[in-house]
Amino acid sequence: MRILKACLFDLDGVLVDTAGYHFKAWRRLAQTLGIDFTEHDNERLKGVSRMRSLEIILEIGERTLPPEQMLALCEQKNTEYLLDVAQMTPAEILPGVVEFLKALKAEGFKIALGSASKNAQLILERTALLPFFDAIIDGRHVTNGKPDPEVFLKGAEALGVLPEECVVFEDAVAGVEAAKNGNMRCVGVGQPEVLTLADIVVQDLTEMSVARLRELEQM
Ligand code: BG6
Ligand code: MG
Repeated sequence: MRILKACLFDLDGVLVDTAGYHFKAWRRLAQTLGIDFTEHDNERLKGVSRMRSLEIILEIGERTLPPEQMLALCEQKNTEYLLDVAQMTPAEILPGVVEFLKALKAEGFKIALGSASKNAQLILERTALLPFFDAIIDGRHVTNGKPDPEVFLKGAEALGVLPEECVVFEDAVAGVEAAKNGNMRCVGVGQPEVLTLADIVVQDLTEMSVARLRELEQM
């Protein structure tokens, strides 16, 4: 039996639905390169860094580009993505998120963000979620992307708790693996047949409660 003291949340696909904005910007960029990039391909970009996303798109198109051009393309994609982020409001918070965060606060749980995104802070500000977080670890603070546990281990450290006292909430396979590699409990958000390594899987956070979290202590 372990005692859980903290919750670490992925951002994109768990707290807010930004996947469509990422897709739109990458698809437009892929088009300029003459690469056919589908919604199905986009699944592979979940939880993965910006540069790794571009590498995957180039792999799909069987293309290679010099590193400086790849950096410029990442910049270009992000500029376009940020136009959509600038329009974001709290209406884009996913179902059950605010209620669950409030319940966690009321019960004294510590809360951190563990995201691959370098835009995480801005998105939390736009959606008014920032005040819930005791620590933010994002793409600006890590060198190793998920499934490396670095982002979550740094989150635990920033909160002053042990990894085994943490639960991670993740929608990406690589993110679930990162949680498990860090010896943390993991709640998958999405499909059970995809997030097979998660301790439990929910469709969204409306299915979560502090009581359900306590059940994870017994597992
Ligand atoms: C992750 C998303 O949260 O952040 C990925 O799931 C994205 O799709 C990654 O590529 C990096 O995001 P950003 O905002 O730094 O380009
Ligand atoms: Mg995600």
